[in-house]
Amino acid sequence: MTADESKPYERILISAEQLAQTVERLASELNAAYADTDKVLALVILEGARIFASDLLRQVRFPVQVEYLSASSYRGTTQSSGTVRLQGHLGLAGKICGRKVLLIDDIYDTGLTLAAVQEWLNTCGPADVKTCVLLEKKIRHCKPAAIDFLGLAIEDCFVIGYGLDYQGRFRDLPFVAALAQ
Ligand code: IMP
Ligand code: MG
Repeated sequence: MTADESKPYERILISAEQLAQTVERLASELNAAYADTDKVLALVILEGARIFASDLLRQVRFPVQVEYLSASSYRGTTQSSGTVRLQGHLGLAGKICGRKVLLIDDIYDTGLTLAAVQEWLNTCGPADVKTCVLLEKKIRHCKPAAIDFLGLAIEDCFVIGYGLDYQGRFRDLPFVAALAQ
């Protein structure tokens, strides 16, 4: 990967306008699903989902408490290492019991991250868990994860922008693009 700083991407897959429309549609799906509900615990998986979640949660019309945990498996490459490291989750365990949890992530790729977080969440006794992801790669996932709210499906390539990074860079691009080869 060259990922030249001046032109790190090959082509734009999802424009800023399409992202905005997708986030708006997801927010209305959430508003319908969580109408007349108690406070929802939104659990945002860092770092990738931070930008998506902040745009999304500003558009919801039900009470939300937002918490964050970190999950990493890429270790600076474009391939999952196969093991997922969760951080910041232990302090949240007590807040999850009996709650309606909305898990928010950027992308469903191998599925290892979502499966690891969902498995851990289920040990904390939530009343309900629903998962919202912005993107799903059209591949055979190694670990199937339940997705309740999906933004867009994309082809199998490594993407950057709108929170998604390559080696910690390019999260600030306003669109989602395929990383330059
Ligand atoms: P999974 O565990 O392989 O499903 O990948 C999940 C995590 O890896 C996501 O939450 C992202 O943070 C990161 N990831 C997966 N695919 C990409 C990509 O194409 N670009 C940037 N990050 C990715
Ligand atoms: Mg992630």
